[in-house]
Order: sequence, then structure tokens, then C-alpha cells
Amino acid sequence: MKRKLVVGNWKMNGDRERNQILLREVLQGLPVGVECAICVPFPYLAQAESLLGGTSLGLGAQTLSEFDHGAHTGEVSGAMLADFSVRYVIVGHSERRALQGESDSLVARKALAALRAGLIPLVCIGETLAEREAGETENVLQRQLDALAEVLDADSIGRIAVAYEPVWAIGTGRAASVEQVQAVLSFVRAWLAGRVRDAGDVRILYGGSVKADSAQALFGLPDADGGLIGGASLEAPQFLEICEAAV
Ligand code: G3H
Repeated sequence: MKRKLVVGNWKMNGDRERNQILLREVLQGLPVGVECAICVPFPYLAQAESLLGGTSLGLGAQTLSEFDHGAHTGEVSGAMLADFSVRYVIVGHSERRALQGESDSLVARKALAALRAGLIPLVCIGETLAEREAGETENVLQRQLDALAEVLDADSIGRIAVAYEPVWAIGTGRAASVEQVQAVLSFVRAWLAGRVRDAGDVRILYGGSVKADSAQALFGLPDADGGLIGGASLEAPQFLEICEAAV
């Protein structure tokens, strides 16, 4: 049976001292029966790799280059991430779409680059508040998903995870309601069913202000396979409670 996946996204937070404390605390309380991972900033990959080695906490990164090597100053390739035992990589986070101008097609190419390196891309999709209020949510998600299918074949789509993160719920303390989340997750599942044989095997995560007290209801939704956790992943007790809610 597919286990749920809970991934912490530290975003641009942490330092060597705090990372060590946080990771040790998380490792001490990690539940079984759920897959958990943490996506750290690039400079801390080596530190995290050495602390996580031999444990069940997976290591992830927050983005990668669409290219495999060469003259791309400042970029980090999928192979480099794999070299540090990285298993997951977030692509298309709304902060990167908005602040770094990442387009739907670039996100798709990054997902492909991740798969080439043997990584699991966690492909983020989601609408802004203005788009939701304009009744555009499904059109936006359809556009973001269709861009993936332009670049990834069916086999590749079967190897990604999709993270639905409504932009208005990220870091705002205002998680989407369970009804809103399930409606989107089932839309995504239907999109997957039109492209891959075993759409039920593809993990769909929810992200956006998930806290310990909301996690259980969100993860219990029929199409929810786990979560992508920002702020609450920076405190071990809260992150662990969220992981526990996915067991
Ligand atoms: O990647 C994580 C998401 O952006 C959610 O962040 O839990 O702080 O709202 P948040």
C-alpha cells in the first residue's frame, strides 16, 4: 500500500547550529508507517546528509537546474543533488514562480531534469486568491498540469508527486478548507487518470498553512497522500505531530 509522504520545506531558513538541533529532534521522534523528508537549503545538504545517513528521514532540495551540467553559474544540477543522497526535489514552488519568474514550461523541464537524475520531483501547482475569486482555479491548474504533459511522457508523469499549494494559503495561517482541498485533489487525480495507467499510485500532496491541528483532517481526504509543510517544519514537535497525523 502507498504510504503517505510528509515533506518539510525549510525555505531560506536555518543555520548549522539550529539545523543540527532540529534534525536531531526530528530524528528522535520520527513515526513509522509514513514517509517523511526535509528539503534544506543547498549549503546545508552535506550537513543534513551526514545527520540523516542510515535513518528513514529522506533528504530533499528546494529547486534544481533544468540543465545537467555546464556554463550555468549559480545553478545546481540534479546529479549534484543525487551526489548528496537527495531523493526529493521541489519544483515550481509558487515563491519561485512569482519571485524568480519560473514559467509552467520551465517547471516541466525541471521536473524532467529531476527524473533524469533519479530524483522524485514534487511538482507544485496552485492558484492565487485573485484566480480563485475569479472562478479560474481549475483553468489555472489545468494549464500548469498540461505544461507538464508537454514535456513528460506517461511513464515520467507516473514517477512525479504533485503538491497542490493554493498561493493564498501559503504562510498565511489560512489553510484551504477540506472541501476546497478535496475538490482540487480529485481534479488532479482525474487529470492523472487521463495520462497514466495507475493514477492512484501517484502521490498528491497538499501544502499551505498545514498545522498539527489541521493535518489529520487534510491527510484523511480521499485523494490526499500527504503534505508539503513550510513554517511548521521548522519546529520539531509540530512537524512530528504533522508526520504522525499521516500514519
Ligand atoms: O512548501 C511549503 C508551502 O509553501 C507551505 O508553507 O506551511 O508555511 O504555509 P506554509
